[in-house]
Amino acid sequence: MSESKLTLDTISSLAKRRGFIFQSSEIYGGLASCWDFGPLGVELKNNVKGLWWKHMVRMRDDIVGMDSSILMHPDVWVASGHVGAFHDMLIDCLNCKTRVREDHLENGKCPRCGGSEFTEPKKFQLMFKTQAGATETGKMDIWLRPETCQGIFVDFKQVQAVSRKKVPFGIAQIGKAFRNEVTTKSFIFRSREFEQMEMEFFCSEAEADEWYEHFKQERWNFYLNALGIHEENLKWEPHAEDALAHYAKAAVDILYHFPFGWQEIEGIHNRTDFDLKAHIEHSGKDMTYHDQDKNEKFIPWVIETSAGVERSVLVSIIDAYAEDEIGGEKRNLLKFHRHVAPVKVAVFPLQKKADLQEVAKPLYKALQERWNCQYDVAGNIGRRYRRQDEIGTPYCVTVDFDTLEDKSVTIRDRDTTEQVRIALDQVESWLLERL
Ligand code: GAP
Repeated sequence: MSESKLTLDTISSLAKRRGFIFQSSEIYGGLASCWDFGPLGVELKNNVKGLWWKHMVRMRDDIVGMDSSILMHPDVWVASGHVGAFHDMLIDCLNCKTRVREDHLENGKCPRCGGSEFTEPKKFQLMFKTQAGATETGKMDIWLRPETCQGIFVDFKQVQAVSRKKVPFGIAQIGKAFRNEVTTKSFIFRSREFEQMEMEFFCSEAEADEWYEHFKQERWNFYLNALGIHEENLKWEPHAEDALAHYAKAAVDILYHFPFGWQEIEGIHNRTDFDLKAHIEHSGKDMTYHDQDKNEKFIPWVIETSAGVERSVLVSIIDAYAEDEIGGEKRNLLKFHRHVAPVKVAVFPLQKKADLQEVAKPLYKALQERWNCQYDVAGNIGRRYRRQDEIGTPYCVTVDFDTLEDKSVTIRDRDTTEQVRIALDQVESWLLERL
């Protein structure tokens, strides 16, 4: 499984130790492929989602946001093709009885025991089924959504009308999705409950190829510039024509070089007019777009960008992980991009003494107005630095005895460990320039 030196175990134990990510319901033995995000994990996740929203919605005039319901009318999933086609083919190893996806065999052998005899493949529906309604007779079978985009398609006409957008324009949303995944290793990479950040861009068929290229570039740039991922760890993987999803005319994935190999973190798809057509057919409602300038009616084509929040979180942690040596002492740190770092600044009074805290506390409170900060008085200063390095805090500010005289503090840089002396009343603007 391991390709690069860094293992997923190193990442998952750091994530647990420092409060990023824990196993769900751990006191009951855990629930496979379900994860809880701790105090730092939720900050990191919110930063990833905030950056996506900023780049895909807030800074664009041609994309609007929405938040649709997780539970939808069951016919949505018939129209989308999920009831008929969203399944894995599973086989049981006759030797060790492990159930595996047929497409996850390793050279035709069981990945657990190496056995090569299996049961016949069986279809396994990936959507979670539940029931709505309280009475036995009034109950209705419904599904937990396996992707967020169908909420966008079924609301296309309403959102277009209320936002007064003309095609070409896009609708974006971030939300939970659920898949009853069979393969449950790889930490949060493949979860049963996860979040997607999806954008559906509606355009004419004639413009679809151009928008597809545009969004490919936008999404690549997002990983480089917004999340600060190293470019050598990213690559494209176009889908072969015979491997395209039932709705797609063209599709490409962005892959990341995980410790367990190159894997998908986002897909960019040309979904044609498949989804709107399917919903017109199943709902009987008119979802055609009327281009008033050209006096033309048509069903828009869709370019989709679809990314998983958990995968971006995992990539951010793995890509930031580093080990080095400072003054003969080994340290491990997370060199998070400043946009992504869950804590931006830590404030330390050198000692617990009241006169130092009288300066440090108000400074901390002022910085909290802008950034997620931590205040730490416990342990020697070296240990406090290590704690912040390990969670990826870019700057530590120390209030010492000189501060009481010269009204200056020491600011230490996480990556270089260099320290500078800055006047107390300049700290906020100094940090603002760099964060
Ligand atoms: N609407 C298109 C769609 O859902 P997908 O390739 O099935 O396409 C898109 O999923 C993205 O969602 C993936 O690139 C991945 O980042 C994320 N994703 C899918 N299944 C996931 C899972 N089980 N756990 C975590 N993320 C997942």
